[in-house]
Amino acid sequence: MPPRHTRPADSNEIENLILAAFGKDEALEILPLVDGLLNAPTDPPVISLVSAEHDQIDGFIAFSPVFPVSGSGVCGYILAPLAVLPAHQRQGIGSLLIKHGLTSLAERNADLVLVYGNPHYYGRFGFEGAIAEAFQPPFEMAYPAAWQGLLLDGGTMPRTPVSFKPVPALNNSALW
Ligand SMILES: CC(C)(COP(=O)(O)OP(=O)(O)OC[C@H]1O[C@@H](n2cnc3c(N)ncnc32)[C@H](O)[C@@H]1OP(=O)(O)O)[C@@H](O)C(=O)NCCC(=O)NCCS
Repeated sequence: MPPRHTRPADSNEIENLILAAFGKDEALEILPLVDGLLNAPTDPPVISLVSAEHDQIDGFIAFSPVFPVSGSGVCGYILAPLAVLPAHQRQGIGSLLIKHGLTSLAERNADLVLVYGNPHYYGRFGFEGAIAEAFQPPFEMAYPAAWQGLLLDGGTMPRTPVSFKPVPALNNSALW
């Protein structure tokens, strides 16, 4: 089954998935993020998708808009978080969720997707550190090499660095 948009009734299953994928300690930081993203009244809205097998949710991804503070008209999103049920990992579910999300964002005429994650994993989808360098997050990053970007069709690099604000759920220094 292709990924679908989340529904309010998915919350408990998504919470269990996050706990299983990230483990209890990391989930303490990720669960409030997910809760905030699923309930964020932003414009444009957060895009959150799940994959499911036999009606069991086994993958989750969210893309939240960024809000440039320096007058750039760029339409960008941050990919976070991404999680796949441990027993279902390495079967292409994470890749499917990313590709489905990127297609959905391209259809909404987004210019850019940013991610703060393992370059080894995200590099295979075309994310590059050099693109993210032009976009300055609101906090100093613990792992600057994990900050990557991907330009979607029609997206161009800004001429000057762009500072931005994320949605409130990501406006937390502990996540950076
Ligand atoms: C990262 C994650 C979402 C990948 O999901 P997945 O469905 O297993 O991914 P895919 O099947 O599409 O891709 C699997 C490939 O990714 C690689 N991979 C998986 N997790 C990785 C990680 N944390 N870092 C680097 N590579 C990773 C695997 O080596 C595998 O490659 P291979 O099969 O060529 O060896 C999943 O491992 C997960 O939920 N991890 C825990 C939560 C997490 O760390 N999320 C990412 C936050 S940025």
